Amino acid sequence: MPELLRFQDVNTHYGDLHVLKDVNYTIGQGEIVSLLGGNACGKSTTMKTIMGVVRPTTGSVIFDGVAIETMSTAERVKRGIAPVLEARRLFPRMTVYENLEMGAYTRKRGPDFNQDLERVYSLFPRVKERLNQVSGTLSGGEQQMVAIGRALMARPRLICMDEPSMGLSPLFVEQVFEIIQEINRQGMTIFMVEQNANMALSIAHRAYVLQTGKVVLSGSAAELRRDPSIREAYLGELQVT
Ligand SMILES: Nc1ncnc2c1ncn2[C@@H]1O[C@H](COP(=O)(O)OP(=O)(O)OP(=O)(O)O)[C@@H](O)[C@H]1O
Ligand SMILES: [Mg+2]
Repeated sequence: MPELLRFQDVNTHYGDLHVLKDVNYTIGQGEIVSLLGGNACGKSTTMKTIMGVVRPTTGSVIFDGVAIETMSTAERVKRGIAPVLEARRLFPRMTVYENLEMGAYTRKRGPDFNQDLERVYSLFPRVKERLNQVSGTLSGGEQQMVAIGRALMARPRLICMDEPSMGLSPLFVEQVFEIIQEINRQGMTIFMVEQNANMALSIAHRAYVLQTGKVVLSGSAAELRRDPSIREAYLGELQVT
């Protein structure tokens, strides 16, 4: 499977705080890869490092064979990386339709645009019903759907998601995960931070586990689901001795 994204010995700092420590990840084209780990271990920092909100102090981020770590966020988006970040970051005063339109701003508007809109509507019928609603008044789950729809409008090659299940009721979580899986079946590569390890490992192909900024475990999702330390720490099971 050709590689799409790679972290090579990445270190990041906020002032004196050393967050990511010699981190290596590889995401292959067409994969769903999940990043697991407890609070404050550097998961969101990973996503911010991909988008260029945080720059590595050392190491490299390679996207499609090109080092991108010094590029602006806009340049990364243009190259095909789309974020669905924490707190969703819709434009709250714009309507749903305007938010979707913004997703496509890096491309020329043509017949593709309407085709992509139709695709978003078919994935999220609920979004279509609310096109003229101001985004800030949507429920959390609806906002998450618009955020994913907006990412798709950019026709990206990689979607980076930070906790897509956060704040959603179990029914919405299930729907959002089904849609992530559907988007992946259509060929999209997805790198996803999740605290909901059970759900994440049920749809991911592979996963990495971060602990205080270090990758302590990685492997296929099936392997990790069987791993006793994962079962105890992240799947809410007590170890039977
Ligand atoms: N802009 C910032 N300035 C200073 N410290 C920061 C900044 N952003 C994050 N940090 C710190 O870096 C560490 C890692 O934060 P990060 O957001 O990557 O964690 P996380 O794994 O996403 O955690 P959570 O599961 O709680 O979302 C935390 O200790 C956090 O306080
Ligand atoms: Mg986070």
